[in-house]
Amino acid sequence: MSRPASQRTSTRQLASTLVHWFSQNARPLPWRQSRDAYRIWLSEVMLQQTTVTAVIPYYEKFLARFPTLGDLARAELADVLEMWAGLGYYSRARALHKSAQALHTRGGFPRTATELEELPGFGPYTSRAVSSLAFGENVGVVDGNVIRVLSRLHALDLEWWTPKARREYQSLADELAQSADPYQVNQALMELGATICTPKSPTCLICPWQSACAARAHSARQATKSVTDFPRPRPKREHEIWIWRPRIIQSGQAFALLPNTHAPFLRGQLLPPGEAKRHKAPPKDFAFRGQITHHKIFVIPTRERWPKRLRQLEGQPLTWVTRDELRRQIPSSLARRALESAQ
Ligand code: ADE
Repeated sequence: MSRPASQRTSTRQLASTLVHWFSQNARPLPWRQSRDAYRIWLSEVMLQQTTVTAVIPYYEKFLARFPTLGDLARAELADVLEMWAGLGYYSRARALHKSAQALHTRGGFPRTATELEELPGFGPYTSRAVSSLAFGENVGVVDGNVIRVLSRLHALDLEWWTPKARREYQSLADELAQSADPYQVNQALMELGATICTPKSPTCLICPWQSACAARAHSARQATKSVTDFPRPRPKREHEIWIWRPRIIQSGQAFALLPNTHAPFLRGQLLPPGEAKRHKAPPKDFAFRGQITHHKIFVIPTRERWPKRLRQLEGQPLTWVTRDELRRQIPSSLARRALESAQ
């Protein structure tokens, strides 16, 4: 996006105020101690759906076990999942492992977001985070924190979840990242969103951008709109009720599992075979219930005992997992509960 010279100067001022604030206020987070692409990438993947406080111990434990890209690429998926257990959203760990193998094979990380985006598991956010934070590429990062900060700074009432609005935020973030050191700008934007420009109770009085903030000016002029009205809330996805009937097939101490293609939740993970159906109302009888994203899941397991371990079921190869291996192989507590419920 091209803007008049006067506005470019003001973007430079904004970036410089922000970076100065960051130099005085940055939390000493473990992923800020190094510019190593692997370490930065890992932190950004872990931080995608999880808070900083929850991530720190996992991050350190994970790096102690897999200190380099090569170590992760050579690891067994089960060991990677074991180190991830408790962080949730296990598809992240699978994608991380797969991408590590692709990166290792090609000899390491490419240095630009455009090249990174070609790799499996690298979306627009992760690619830009790695290229700007590890290699100093002048590109902005746009995550929930950044959207909140920028929508308040510019009083933007956009439908931020749409591709069109995303492009607008991306170009605003890019302009900032072109106006000072992109590492400092991007970390500072995320920091501002996490510590000052928070969703519900922003502390505007100590914000480095308070005098520039359009949402704040708005709220001072007309009491009808306040800073926390930006960004506008995303319409909530409706809950869906699902009945899941896993077949708990046991042979000796082992359970039969398949990569899940039958249910819309826990896709691709090892689950007992079974069926999942969407319902209008919750059932009266069920063993237990759980929730995964917008799926409310009512579980009705059935139990089968087989004299020997078959290799296949309906043409698909079965994986047999013993009771004491469940924790390691099955990260989802809902799936483990289903397996353990049919005693
Ligand atoms: N959230 C996502 N990335 C982050 C980072 N690098 N620092 C702090 N919070 C973050």
